Order: sequence, then C-alpha cells, then structure tokens
Amino acid sequence: MPAGLSGASPPNAASRPSAASPLAAAAPPAAGFTADWLGQRVVFADGALDRLPAEVGALGARRVLFIAGLAGAAPARAAALLGDRLAARWDDVRQHVPADLAVAVATEARRVRANAVVSLGGGSATGLAKICALQTGLPVVAVPTTYAGSEMTPVWGRTDGAVKQTGRDPRVLPKSVIYDPRLLTGLPPEFAGTSAMNALAHCVEALYAPAADPLTSLSALEAARLIAAALPVIMAPGASSGPARPAGTAVASPAGTGPDTAAQAGRALLWAACLAGRSFGTAGGSLHHSLCHLLGGQAGLPHAQTHAIVLPHVVAFLSAAIEPQLGRLAAVLGTDPTDVAGALWDLGAAAGSPAGLRALGLPASDLPAIAAALAERQPASPRPLSAADALAVVTAAWRGERPAPLSPALGDGQPGRIGQPGPDPGTCPQPGPDPQPEADPQPMSAAGLSAAVIDRLQQTPDPRLREVLTSLVMHLHGFVAEVRLSQDEWLAAVRFLTATGQICSDRRQEFILLSDTLGVSMLVDLLAGPSGSGSAGFATESTVLGPFYVPGSPERGYGASIAERPSGEPAWITGRVTDLDGRPIADATLDVWQNADDMLYAVQNTDAPQDNLRGLFRTRADGSFAFLGVRPTDYPIPDDGPVGRLLASTGRHPWRPAHIHVIVSAPGYRTVATHIFDSGSRYLASDAVFAVKSSLIRDFERHEPGGTAAVPEGVPPGAAWYSLRQDFLLSPVAAESGD
Ligand SMILES: [Fe+2]
Repeated sequence: MPAGLSGASPPNAASRPSAASPLAAAAPPAAGFTADWLGQRVVFADGALDRLPAEVGALGARRVLFIAGLAGAAPARAAALLGDRLAARWDDVRQHVPADLAVAVATEARRVRANAVVSLGGGSATGLAKICALQTGLPVVAVPTTYAGSEMTPVWGRTDGAVKQTGRDPRVLPKSVIYDPRLLTGLPPEFAGTSAMNALAHCVEALYAPAADPLTSLSALEAARLIAAALPVIMAPGASSGPARPAGTAVASPAGTGPDTAAQAGRALLWAACLAGRSFGTAGGSLHHSLCHLLGGQAGLPHAQTHAIVLPHVVAFLSAAIEPQLGRLAAVLGTDPTDVAGALWDLGAAAGSPAGLRALGLPASDLPAIAAALAERQPASPRPLSAADALAVVTAAWRGERPAPLSPALGDGQPGRIGQPGPDPGTCPQPGPDPQPEADPQPMSAAGLSAAVIDRLQQTPDPRLREVLTSLVMHLHGFVAEVRLSQDEWLAAVRFLTATGQICSDRRQEFILLSDTLGVSMLVDLLAGPSGSGSAGFATESTVLGPFYVPGSPERGYGASIAERPSGEPAWITGRVTDLDGRPIADATLDVWQNADDMLYAVQNTDAPQDNLRGLFRTRADGSFAFLGVRPTDYPIPDDGPVGRLLASTGRHPWRPAHIHVIVSAPGYRTVATHIFDSGSRYLASDAVFAVKSSLIRDFERHEPGGTAAVPEGVPPGAAWYSLRQDFLLSPVAAESGD
C-alpha cells in the first residue's frame, strides 16, 4: 500500500535498496549541484478562481485574451470575473497544438491588442496559452482544471504535420498559476486518472532527467507519494462526482472512500500536480517524454493516456540505470524496488489507463517507424538507447502487459527486462533464497523475441547489412504481429515463395515479376535517383527493368532493324542522346528490346530467333541514333505461375501497356533503364507493374504506303509504318554525389 496521505505509513525499511543508504540517496551528491530554480507565483486555495482579477491586475494587464475550450460554469465565471478586461475569448483548443492553431491564436491576440493571456483548462488550454506567449511575449495566468501540471513548466509543444516539436523558453512559463481544487470537482474519472498519471510521469522523469537537483527530487518524490495515495481514492466509484467539501477535512485511508475523502484526495492531487510540474519544469524530460511526444505528434495519440501507458515500460527499460532513484521511488510508492515498473502499471490500471497503445488504435505496423524515429532522436536517457531497444520499449508499451519484476535483485547490473508478461496485477513474487538458474528462462513474449532477434543482428560486421537486416526484421515482425499471421497462412507463404523460386529459370524470372507486381521495383526506382522528366535540363526518367532483359544483345549499325523475322508493323525510332544542356553524347550505347505482335519477347518464344527484336546501338558524333523496330503491343505478364495466381486472387489483371525497353549508358553519365510507352495503349493507367511515368509516353506516327515521308530501309514495300522520335538526356555521374 502507498504511504497514506496522513503520512502514517512509513516506507518499509526492508524494501529500500541495499545499494544506497537513505541519507546517501537523499543528500546532495559530494560534487554538489547547480540549479536554475524557476520563479513563479502560485495561488492555491479552494475558491482561488475569485482571485483572478487580482492576479491579472498585478501584471498590469487591461486587455486579456481568455483561452478556455470547455463549456460550463467555470469559464463563464472566469469571464465574468475578468469583466472589462476581457478583450476576447478563444475556445478552439486542441491537443498537441497544431501549427495552424498556434498561428491563429497569436493573430487573435494581436488583433484584440491583448496584453495578457489567461488560460482555463487542462494541458491543451495551457499549452495553447504558452504557444501564444512564445509568439507574442504576452504574460500568462494559468488556471488548471486537470492534474497535467504543464502550467508549472517552461516547456512548449507544437505539432507541425506529423512532428511534434517541443522546446523550453522562459517566456512561456505562466507568471501566475491559480489552483482552485473546486474547479476539479466533477472531473470525470477517466480524465482525472489519466491526467494524474501524467503528473506521475513528471515525477518519475524528474528523478533522473539531466538537470535533476535535490529540490526537484524532493518535490517529485512528495508528489509521487501523494499521487499513489490519492489516485485510488478519486477513482473509487462516485468519488469525483460529489460537491466540493471545505478544506481541512480529515482523510480516511484509501479503502474508506467517501465524499470528504474524495475532496481531500482531489486537493492533494492538485498539489501533487503542482509539485510534479515544478520538478519536471526545472529538471527537464528524458526518454519517456520524448517517446510520448513522438506518439502524440506522429501517431496522434491522446496525451494523458499515452503517458499512463508508456511510463511503466520506460521505467522497466531504465531500471538498471536508475537504481538509486528507483529505491527512493519504491519507498514513496510503498513497493519493492524490484517492482517499481509494475507498481506504476498497477497505478495506471487503477487510473483506468487503456491496456497498451494498441487499445488507443495504434497499428502494430507503425511501431518500427516510431521506434526508428525515437532511436534517431537519441533523447537524454540514463541508459543508451539502440534501435533494438527502442523497438522493444515501443512494442512493450503497445502490448501493455504488466512489466515483470526485476530478477535477480536490483543491482545486478543487468538491464530491466521489458515486454515480458508479469504476474497478475497486485501480486509480487517473493524473493527466493537462491538465484534463478539459467535453465529457468522467463516466458518468451512476442516483443521479447523481436528484441532478441534484433539484438543478435547488432554484431553484423558490415554496417549497411546490419541496418538493412535490422529494419527488415522490425518490419517483418511488425507485419506478422499486426495481421496475427496463423500457422496455416505462414505455411502458405512458404509454399508460395518456394513455387516462385522453382519456376525461375534462365528464361523466366518470377521473383522480379513478384517484385514488379507488388510495386517494389518501382519503389526502388523512385528512391534511387533524382526525378527527371526528360525535358530540357532534366534527365530522362527511369522505370522498371522487367523480367525479360537478357544481356548480350547483338551490336547493330545505325538505322538497322532489330526484327530478324516478320514481327509486326515497322516502327522507325530516332533521336539523340545528350547531356542536360543538350550537348550531344557520342558513342553512347542503347540496349533495346521489345515484344512482337504475338505479344512475346524472344526470350519467351523458343520458336523465334533469340536475338529477335533486340539490339545494341551506338550514337554517332552528333549523339544521334536510329533503329527499325516494330510497334509494340500490350501484353500480359506471365500469369501461369504463382505471381499470376496471386494477381487472380486479388482481382487484378496482368496486362502491361505496350512499350519498348531501352537502357542508355555512356561513360561519365548515369545509366538509365527506361521504357518508351505507346500513347495508344489502353493499359497506361493500370499497368500491372506500376511502371508508367507520363514523361515516357510517346505518340507513334502512322505513315500509309505512298506517303511523302522517306521510307526507312527495311520497311517492306507497300507496307504502312510508324515513326517516333525519342531523345534521351543523361545526367553526369558527378551531379549525383550530393543526392
Ligand atoms: Fe516489357
């Protein structure tokens, strides 16, 4: 049981950590300390809202922008109290302060020529007032109505797109804070509980944050003690719905809840929120807050619930690195030092915290990206955070299981295990007489397994291979977890991949087909290089190589035909290869291949000459080239194998729009593998492999027999034919070095 509000339950001496004495843990370190304590005015009393005019007046403010998002009696009362000083009321309050809202509120403050901002509400209202102060320099008077505690910190937050930015600035620290416990009467338990957990997170992080000092630790521990004692009281059925009681009412034990107890507990919690916020405001944040802001900005998760869920798992991860702090925290929470993370989880459960980030709707597939972003941020943390650590912490918070108590005893130097299911809430394992033998492993969890695999990959010598494989495992495990892949489905996938490999041969590449139809080939292409358009100054765009490329095409002369047998209507293709400034590139090579009017490439057709419809051409001194091909045809990719069956099972057609393949290369220039798409194709908008880029679409011009155009050599007498001009612009290799 936590130490009671009356202070009648001293911490159990046996539960203190053995590594440090109480005095050693609580006294300033021998090296001393330096602290920047914040200057701030606080008014704390039942009915303190009535002092709002005096507090505003003390700032010399005559025109107030009043921010209050919630409807109800309190904002109306505050507005009435402001009287003539009320220049405007602002009621658009949103979580995480979106950037557009930040701009709008500052604009309004300037428009009404406000010289002070008053906020009444929870962390979002306070946060908006802070952002307004950051942009306008106006002083803030904050009237909190939850236990979030941000009114006591100089920390601001704003969300730009999916990124939540935070910072510290003394201008955003409210000049005056009015704590009126009566304003929190009737606060729904779900808000009260989770915002109290938010305050508890401030306490915990303040104990090990970079600028922690003896005073911040003292106030953080007192706040944690109050929260642990009062939170179960206010969460008791009906506890927060009764009318406020006069101050000074005696408090019963948490088990004996009643209206008076609830009022006193609410008052204690508000004081705890003040202490916690003040501690955090001075000491700063660490891993927990960094992760929570990431989840708020990137995934849009609600602030308070996210805090409540994440905190136990961050503490579990940090346990071995914050042993002295955990010992002191355990004492005020009334728990064993080896089970602080579990005790925090229990408090979260009592506060009505959702069971894991998954309960907030966060998909498992988001976890790798969030973990990667967290690892990249490298927040100030008592324990270094690897990419694998980040994923393990995020995954554990997503699953939301109670962290297991540390075993063996705290102080073994081993990092706290995370993500492993613990005992039922409320039960603490009894310390055994003997250390746990190695042959008695902990039960394996999904998150623990992912972390173990990733951990083992960290010894990969090649850094790029390590990065690629780590990310692959993160995403693969995230995928399996998200869809909860069954054994049968896993086996079906193995059979599919086996069949894909078995159908491959010298003449068929089913894996490239699979990559193409899943869009992976085009994704690699799009990420590979600078996007171009083939217009002046821009390189010709690339696209997929496709499965029918065969190296070693025969070299052919300028203007030669690639058709070694009748293969369709002749098409005379001409153009130039130039650099981005239009200067000709001589002796560039064009490796060309295309299909015939039977829709087949030579490599697919054992009856055709193997060099039919393919050839290697070189540009002349002026960069020009020419060859005689045939007008290409739409064709289905091979759909008699596993990829075809996959397409059929997803209702997709296998067709590709007609095109001619070309690989253009020249020394000193970036090789481009591309297509010339036929504008007459019906499949340009639904290419089975997603390879169409609009800059690559060209018109084939038809010439009837007997026309005025000079008939190219190789066109049969009396035959209609087509012409098409296609220039290729290549970028120099050096230009890519900065990509
Ligand atoms: Fe093709």
